[in-house]
Amino acid sequence: MIIVILLLVKIVLDKKYLPGPWNLPVIGYLHRLDPTAPYLTLTKLVQKYGPIYNIKLGMLNVVVLADARILKKVLAKDETLERSPLYLMDSVFERKGFAHANIDLWKDQRKFVSNFLREVGAARVSPNRKTCETMIKKHVDEFVQVVKSQGFGKPLGPSELVTHLISSTANSLFLGKPFSLNDKKVTDLARNIRAFTELLMFGAPLNFLPFLRFLPQYKKKLTLLKQAVDRVRDIQAQLIHECEKSTCLDSQSNLVKAFQSQMSETKSDHIYTLDQLHRLLFDLYIAFTETTITSLLWILLYLAQHVEVQSKIRQELLWVLQGESLDLGDFENLHYTKAALAEIARIRTVLPLGVPHYASENIYLDGLTIPKGTMIMPLLWAIHMDPKVHKDPEEFRPERFIDSDGKFSKPESFLPFQSGKRMCIGEDVANMVTTIFIAGVLQNFRIEPVNSLGLDFTGSCGATLNPKPQKLIFTKI
Ligand code: HEM
Repeated sequence: MIIVILLLVKIVLDKKYLPGPWNLPVIGYLHRLDPTAPYLTLTKLVQKYGPIYNIKLGMLNVVVLADARILKKVLAKDETLERSPLYLMDSVFERKGFAHANIDLWKDQRKFVSNFLREVGAARVSPNRKTCETMIKKHVDEFVQVVKSQGFGKPLGPSELVTHLISSTANSLFLGKPFSLNDKKVTDLARNIRAFTELLMFGAPLNFLPFLRFLPQYKKKLTLLKQAVDRVRDIQAQLIHECEKSTCLDSQSNLVKAFQSQMSETKSDHIYTLDQLHRLLFDLYIAFTETTITSLLWILLYLAQHVEVQSKIRQELLWVLQGESLDLGDFENLHYTKAALAEIARIRTVLPLGVPHYASENIYLDGLTIPKGTMIMPLLWAIHMDPKVHKDPEEFRPERFIDSDGKFSKPESFLPFQSGKRMCIGEDVANMVTTIFIAGVLQNFRIEPVNSLGLDFTGSCGATLNPKPQKLIFTKI
């Protein structure tokens, strides 16, 4: 009786702060989350409890934020800079590296990576932007040539080629060297990164109930995760070694060179160690490749389904470029192209559960209280599919991002990269890649589905929401 009364009192106390569903002791709401699409379960709860609600995942108190204005305010606070304690994330990243690092390390590495990206031209304001643009163009050109060489009009699964394009771009950016077309390391890396991100879903029960690791099915998952992580680390150690051995350290800017120069400047430093270099590259490489590959695959699928959008983009490219090749100065004038890219990023949010943060102190904001120790989950899917803000959200309509003057306009409720001091550091380079890609592809091909049955847009969810593998037809324009 006493135990039952205590549990009931606890349940009532837990509900004190914000609305939200009833949670079971110990497991919270985990049993009700759809294991294949937790973002859909959480979005359904928005309809019932509103865009800010409270839920328990395991023993962890979680505030789900599906209101863009409040989310921005919450993420702007220094008290929400930390990452949430999650068993799987912590066992892989150990609070080192960058994306899941502890605050002191993160502050230093954020500055270091920002400087590095500026130096190599992968930032909006950089004297070397042209170098980075040329490098991305080279990779996109290679993609175009390979598609051409496979023969027009035949069904082609683009996943492997897109993976090569992005892996090679990331390697050029961070290690100053592209991958050759038949380099087996690319598929090996991509396969293991995919396995890793599939297992690492933020809503995975193991993140909240570490004791599950003793049960055979979870034990197996954990072993697979560790194997995938170890394999990615091994390949990257090999790549760093190759970079150190080759002349790339003398010739170009790259991450190893920039990091090693910090190592020699700060000899007694505990941050600039070899271990940290490996972890930093691991984080950057995964953050770059997994999200961008997924974005490009969604872009191809949506373009294939909407040939009228392809034509409009082609017309805009003809009009703006006047026969010249795409230059950074043109980006600003490609209003329809940017709107189409934004619409694809909205309708199939690459990170539907966002990347969670953590309240390291009590937060009081606009009458809202988020207690210290709460995980903050930015439910980007619900924000992007909110019918009150994005009318008929399931309809693919790039025009919703065009204002009355015919210019691209980004509403407050469009946050694919989140916001605040910890927002995606790769936003500029991701935008460069997607724009150069869409221009390169549509200047050369018309893309279509293989048959009139159309394409599957359901996607499968790990840390990212990926399109299911399917073939497309590329024809000459
Ligand atoms: C379309 C592509 C991309 C999307 C949708 C995306 C989205 C995101 C999101 C939502 C976050 C979480 C921000 C937060 O915690 O508040 C993030 C963080 C991050 N992204 Fe991206 N990203 C993309 C591409 C890239 C690229 C190309 C890079 C490589 C430079 C990158 C590097 C990172 C890193 C390192 C973080 C962690 C930042 C930190 O903790 O300070 N991302 N990204």
